[in-house]
Amino acid sequence: ELRGVVALDGPSGTGKSSAARRLAATLGARYLDTGAMYRAATLAVLRAGVDLSDQAGIAEAAAAARVVQGTNPDHSTTHLDGEDVGAEIRGPEVTLAVSPVSAVPAVRERLVAEQRRIIAAALEEAGGIVVEGRDIGTAVVPDAPLKVYLTADAEARAQRRAKQDSASGRESTVDATLADVQRRDAYDSTRAVSPLRAADDAVVLDTTALDLPGTLAALLDLVDDHG
Ligand code: C5P
Repeated sequence: ELRGVVALDGPSGTGKSSAARRLAATLGARYLDTGAMYRAATLAVLRAGVDLSDQAGIAEAAAAARVVQGTNPDHSTTHLDGEDVGAEIRGPEVTLAVSPVSAVPAVRERLVAEQRRIIAAALEEAGGIVVEGRDIGTAVVPDAPLKVYLTADAEARAQRRAKQDSASGRESTVDATLADVQRRDAYDSTRAVSPLRAADDAVVLDTTALDLPGTLAALLDLVDDHG
């Protein structure tokens, strides 16, 4: 059983989401997918027809959006203004726009406050929560007892993402996915507020050669070590 927070950060395609979900389910803990919250806010911005260079417009549209993120590791749900948007936020339009929207400080302020509220409630009710994102160990929960930063070669990450896309019926090629993964990494790691980086006290786990069971086993070992 997990007490407290496990912070899981890293770029996309490292197997982070699947591993985080399985880790939480195995430990009887809650699970928070913060990327889904940024994606839902991005969908709200796109629906409002705001130009992606209009920071104030983005902040306003995101502030008006009601994003509700569930914490069940077996059934993670995302609602935008009462509508289940779990599938739509994985589509190409949102994926293309999510990094610029996430870079707007007012958007992050709102969502980080909501994430901290969800985490506090989960700790009270369940005792433990696995939180995955880009800035969990550095900004959202800097005092998390266990922080893990997942990495993997860009090629391996693109292959994983392309496989996930085709499994969910979205068309993509490894080349196009590699370009998308690299574009988002570059954007996320160079933004001014809470850029993607490993916290100084994070354990770095390279998943290039690991499958999901291997990644899960490595994470469970780390939880044991830090319990
Ligand atoms: O994890 P996922 O790929 O769904 O995240 C989508 C995007 O949301 C990331 O590329 C990043 O721009 C943003 N994000 C963020 N901070 C987080 C989680 C996600 O900026 N904690």
